[in-house]
Amino acid sequence: MPVPTEEAALLAAFEARIAAGESIEPKDWMPERYRKQLTRMMSQHAHSEIVGMLPEGNWITRAPSLRRKLSLLAKVQDEAGHGLYIYCGTETLGVDRQELTEQLLDGRAKYSSIFNYPTLTWADVGVIGWLVDGAAIVNQTVLAKASYGPYARAMVRICKEENFHKRQGYEVCMVLSKGTPAQKAMLQDAVNRFWWPSLMMFGPSDTNSPNSAELLKWRVKRKTNDELRQRFVNLTVPQAIALGITIPDPDLKLNEATGDWEFGEIDWSEFHAVLKGEGPCNHERMAARQAAHKEGEWVRAAATAYAEKQKARQATAAA
Ligand SMILES: [Fe+2]
Ligand SMILES: [Fe+2]
Repeated sequence: MPVPTEEAALLAAFEARIAAGESIEPKDWMPERYRKQLTRMMSQHAHSEIVGMLPEGNWITRAPSLRRKLSLLAKVQDEAGHGLYIYCGTETLGVDRQELTEQLLDGRAKYSSIFNYPTLTWADVGVIGWLVDGAAIVNQTVLAKASYGPYARAMVRICKEENFHKRQGYEVCMVLSKGTPAQKAMLQDAVNRFWWPSLMMFGPSDTNSPNSAELLKWRVKRKTNDELRQRFVNLTVPQAIALGITIPDPDLKLNEATGDWEFGEIDWSEFHAVLKGEGPCNHERMAARQAAHKEGEWVRAAATAYAEKQKARQATAAA
């Protein structure tokens, strides 16, 4: 079916703006596909920030010192802020936050598979900050140049906080790496468990990523999943060497010619299984979110009642 001329002209103007590096703002015309893809991507991102609070929240009451408790508390709170900020950004595309929340709670929406892994020891908190927030930074630094203005601006702000998260995590790892043999072993064990899931955070390989081409064309994404994954590995391997820990990949080696750290095959069957809901903590995470939503019902009801009361008061005052 041919595209109507008017829409074809709008599309051409839209694509020209993107090619010129302009940012698209909420009230601008955009193709429905662009709106849909962005809504999907941004809401998945927001859900990931919110569900991402759970694995580390598990350690707030058991942090080994007051200083560690404070920084972990601040980090988990930051993630809540990131989630709310990105939900607001998603709302500029015309979708209601309540609807997005429902999609998460009834299992229609996805969130990052990394948060379906358990945090078994204190070292996991350090390793998550180092690897998971580190991977998020690699992803989000590029998203800060995304073509959709509200998303790009949210990323600039969020990346600043992610840097703090990564540093506090790496510092936890550094202290453990200089600690007792048991502490070093605990750190190594955490890296063994989180290394491969961190690489999976960049999503499927380029040859198997159904949404990538369109997102790249419209500059929502500026780099492919595999390019970002390689960048993360190149940045992270020297940090692992500095810690004196081993990356659990016998195929990892430096290619002197390209400067890339080449790595082994990712187990994509694990990635797809976790996405399908078969990860070690999928049920636990969803149950925790559902319980939190239910427990928060009175807060939402109170806020709505208060807003209505204010509105009625203002109407009476104006009359
Ligand atoms: Fe975050
Ligand atoms: Fe973070």
